[in-house]
Amino acid sequence: MNIKKNDEFVVDIIDDGLEGSGIAKIDNFTIFINGAIKGERIKIKIIKVLSSHGYGKIIEILNKSEHRKNPDCMTYTRCGGCSLRHVNYDYTLKIKKEIVKNVLRKQGLDYIKVNDVLGMESPFFYRNKLQYPVGMDIGKKMVMGIFSKRSHNIINTTKCMIQNELIQDVANDIFSFIKNNHISAYDEKNLKGIVRHIVIRIGVKTNEIMCTLVLNEDKIDSKLEKSFIDYILSKYPQIKTIIKNINNKNTNVILGDKNIVLYGDGYIYDEILGYKFKISNMSFYQVNPIQTEVLYSKAIEYASLKGEETIFDLYCGIGTIGICASKNVKKLYGIETIKEAIDDAKENAKLNNIKNADFFVGDVEKKLPEFIKENNIKPDVVFIDPPRKGCEKIAIDTILNITPKKVVYVSCNPATLARDLKLFEEKYNIKEVTPVDMFPFTSHVECVVAMTLRETL
Ligand SMILES: C[S@@+](CC[C@H](N)C(=O)[O-])C[C@H]1O[C@@H](n2cnc3c(N)ncnc32)[C@H](O)[C@@H]1O
Repeated sequence: MNIKKNDEFVVDIIDDGLEGSGIAKIDNFTIFINGAIKGERIKIKIIKVLSSHGYGKIIEILNKSEHRKNPDCMTYTRCGGCSLRHVNYDYTLKIKKEIVKNVLRKQGLDYIKVNDVLGMESPFFYRNKLQYPVGMDIGKKMVMGIFSKRSHNIINTTKCMIQNELIQDVANDIFSFIKNNHISAYDEKNLKGIVRHIVIRIGVKTNEIMCTLVLNEDKIDSKLEKSFIDYILSKYPQIKTIIKNINNKNTNVILGDKNIVLYGDGYIYDEILGYKFKISNMSFYQVNPIQTEVLYSKAIEYASLKGEETIFDLYCGIGTIGICASKNVKKLYGIETIKEAIDDAKENAKLNNIKNADFFVGDVEKKLPEFIKENNIKPDVVFIDPPRKGCEKIAIDTILNITPKKVVYVSCNPATLARDLKLFEEKYNIKEVTPVDMFPFTSHVECVVAMTLRETL
């Protein structure tokens, strides 16, 4: 059949796809329909046709899934944040489990058991970090919020169902101050204007807040700066530090290299599993603190530490996984590329009175082989928690050469996880994957996997 744009069809949704879409087949040709759920019968209009697949838009739901619910957010259909708010929470966990099973199947790893996703009891307002761009909308009105789907148009956001409510309030008040005092918003097209982003973090256990204003140029009058600090602190005594970050590059990267601390010490503290952590604005810190404890507990359980082990925490950020595991090990080494994060990791070890830890700045793919060669250290357990792109092959080869008894892989991207597991499979038994819902109602899913060295080696 020749399927064309604007054609209309009635289709059955045969599977759930990525990012909140449903999948239908028309004459064996795959169509993705945003917002459709497996089991539904839907009238659609074709909006795009490519050589291998097409996209359709819902015109009418003829037969509704029992898992469908009314979205609880006004901007859901336009916003680029969540993609599953039209689905009951329990069923979102099933969709995520299937996503993990599918990527493993594609790599020929379908023998690995995928456990049920560890979800949240209350999957709302969970994000401890807010990063909202500031700009102008098409009507030339200043806005602050979240980029709409696949665009850089900002949706004004005064309430977000996944954002910590206190830091949303702080952001709203900062934005009001910016508007009321006629401080200009950065314009991505002509690279002019001052305020680019408002970034706020909260330590949910300590209630300490860090505000970072990302500016295109350091041009705010010092009296205005002072009145901003007085204004925001008088409303929110929980703010422990305020930082000006200068980013004058034409880039999508939010933070620039230069930080100027306007108030406080430039960092806040939080706690995970009873350990205290110092966090700077440049360092990675997990955004869902409740699920971080679930994730780390699972990773540490998988490591089955006895107390005599030397462990590596690779891609360690501010040292959180290693430090949480440290009381059950002989020695901990961490490697991470961001210097500020390693400075925090070293302080975090001191803060928690941990004497058996050393942390090093460097790219794992380079630093790990160097470190092993120079120190002749063979770890018993290696934790890896890389960014979305997964591990470089050279890093995996190094681990395969030093053959630790266990490798525990924490991943925020199932596709690169599956690709990397395929390489580890050469020497490691991989029994199961446990997905953890770190990002409820978005399409993201975190996974933790234990790999055990094959004894016959
Ligand atoms: C997903 S985060 C995990 C951090 C930490 N394990 C945690 O749970 O908070 C990945 C970390 O890897 C770091 N990173 C990215 N590429 C790296 C590389 N090639 N070598 C070392 N660290 C890297 C990032 O800066 C970030 O801190």
